Amino acid sequence: MTAKAAPALSVYHAIYGRRSAWKFSGAAVDPMAVERMLDAAVWAPNHRMTEPWRFFVLEQDSPARHKAAELAYEFQLERTGDGQRANAARQKVLEPPVVIYVYTVPGPNDETTKENYASVCIAAHNISLAGAAEGLAVTWETGGVTRHPSLKGLLGADESWEMATMLLIGHPGEHPVSRRSPASGFVRWFGAADGNP
Ligand SMILES: Cc1cc2nc3c(=O)[nH]c(=O)nc-3n(C[C@H](O)[C@H](O)[C@H](O)COP(=O)(O)O)c2cc1C
Repeated sequence: MTAKAAPALSVYHAIYGRRSAWKFSGAAVDPMAVERMLDAAVWAPNHRMTEPWRFFVLEQDSPARHKAAELAYEFQLERTGDGQRANAARQKVLEPPVVIYVYTVPGPNDETTKENYASVCIAAHNISLAGAAEGLAVTWETGGVTRHPSLKGLLGADESWEMATMLLIGHPGEHPVSRRSPASGFVRWFGAADGNP
């Protein structure tokens, strides 16, 4: 475990303080922070210890990032025929200081494949929560910019893997407000004193 040098933040502060952001300040992200976030990711629970996560970290201005941005542009242009939307897709991939593509490895059957995907989502959320402790916004992206069929080949991902999410990471340049309905609206409790359901 490498929690060494990680900033301390209560789990509750991380959960409530974590926010997605789509604009990032120009500030660079410390690669050590990204390494701590990845170390936190792999401590996600995973049934049968399949360790089904695969991560591809693309630094800003890396050739891989530029190629991924061109694929996002191409995909959006082909899908919509709209040059402006295609440019926006390209910018979405280019702008974050760090981008991590998170893939899940399939299992030998549907049950394990489903469990693996669940574990990978937890791992990605560990990255988000650790990011909150690092003062970083970590935003999930699962839309068109992740869908070009050549993206796996570009990254060196196996054809059998599925992308769980692309994470946009940086110091937030905006602080969007988010909302949730109270948990009580989704919960039914059964107490010892209750009768049969
Ligand atoms: C599975 C999943 C997929 C998401 N995909 C996208 C996406 O494609 N584009 C996007 O802008 N946000 C995406 N998000 C981020 C949500 O829009 C965001 O979590 C939501 O607005 C709530 O904001 P908060 O994260 O700050 O609480 C995704 C989140 C999850 C969990």
